[in-house]
Amino acid sequence: MESFIEEVLLSKEALQQRIQELGRELTQEYAGKRPLLVCVLKGGMPFMAALMQEIATELSIDFMAVSSYGNQTQSSGEVEILKDLSQPVTGRHVLFVEDIVDTGLTLKYLYNLMDSRDAASVKTVCLLDKPARRSPQHQGVQPDWVGFEIPDEFVVGFGLDYQERYRNLPYIGVLKHEIYE
Ligand code: IMP
Repeated sequence: MESFIEEVLLSKEALQQRIQELGRELTQEYAGKRPLLVCVLKGGMPFMAALMQEIATELSIDFMAVSSYGNQTQSSGEVEILKDLSQPVTGRHVLFVEDIVDTGLTLKYLYNLMDSRDAASVKTVCLLDKPARRSPQHQGVQPDWVGFEIPDEFVVGFGLDYQERYRNLPYIGVLKHEIYE
């Protein structure tokens, strides 16, 4: 295990297995609907790549980049679009593919944005959920599919970063506090 990791929370194998299960559920949900999977960059990238291969129905993909974090381990409270979709979503079944839902701010923002864009449906699958961290004004913000509920710890790996580092770890681990304190 890497020296900056306190504990491995989810091994590569555990991630793979759960992503296969999610893929089967999403295949049933979206059969014949040609969903548009929208990867929320950058953290959602490894999850998107693994998940789309487990969905056995025709689909297309697109990317959005948003930022709410800056370089801290706490949300800044504001969301900024860094990259928007490259196609209209009118009449499409949109599925956001997210790394983690924390305060719920990003997800709430994405839903509000889609309200004005006439999609046929908008749903979310996220690999990780930290329900204990949901801010009071986003209590009701809940992804439609969750890979794993995790405790209130700052985690890295499988796309998740601290100051742009550690995204390439093949597992999800708790970052040692001394790295950011
Ligand atoms: P939210 O808007 O507060 O729900 O935060 C969503 C974003 O914050 C995620 O997409 C991540 O990029 C980042 N984030 C939240 N918790 C963690 C964590 O434990 N490790 C790394 N990034 C995190």
